[in-house]
Amino acid sequence: KKYKIAVIVGSLRKESFNLKTAKEMMAMAPDSLSTELLDISGLSWFNEDLEENPPKEWVTLREKIQDADGLLFFTPEYNRSVPGVLKNAIDVGSRPYGENSWDGKPAGVVSVSIGAISGFGANHHLRQSLVFVNVPTMAQPEAYIGGAAELFDDNGKLTNESTKDFLKTYMEAFEKWVHTNAK
Ligand code: FNR
Repeated sequence: KKYKIAVIVGSLRKESFNLKTAKEMMAMAPDSLSTELLDISGLSWFNEDLEENPPKEWVTLREKIQDADGLLFFTPEYNRSVPGVLKNAIDVGSRPYGENSWDGKPAGVVSVSIGAISGFGANHHLRQSLVFVNVPTMAQPEAYIGGAAELFDDNGKLTNESTKDFLKTYMEAFEKWVHTNAK
């Protein structure tokens, strides 16, 4: 069986290091995983007033989450937490009440930062929300990718060999995590 993995990137900018890392990891995914990037750039802000008549992009996002067997999150760190766009996507996917689309999907969390603390704060804030939406998140290996501005060439390709090796190891562990925990 092929497991569908929805990839969610918490940065909207074109040259995002999180996006570049996501693309590298999607390219090195083991054969049993098929990966698809979810677009969260056009999501309107979550607002309970809209729940009765939800914007169509909320519905599309929810369907794509439901269709996935697993989730792979990439988060920048903004002021020691997750960017608002990513939190908004989690909130949209968690509703309406009693119809949480994230429910039970095994996940991985990768934080990518230009700093030395490597997005630790964002990584763990994200894990906090994932506990509540009942997403079993892989504990080990943890993925904190720091100094991201030095890891890629001008074409956005990862050039750092030890980072490449680590990301490959991570994807192999993530494959096992998905196989064990997917419904
Ligand atoms: C940052 N950045 C940042 N980095 C970090 O390690 N810890 C932090 O708390 C913050 N805070 C922060 C706030 C805001 C509003 C911005 C725009 C940036 C820097 C951040 O790591 C850097 O911009 C990354 O390049 C963002 O990830 P992408 O967009 O490259 O994926």
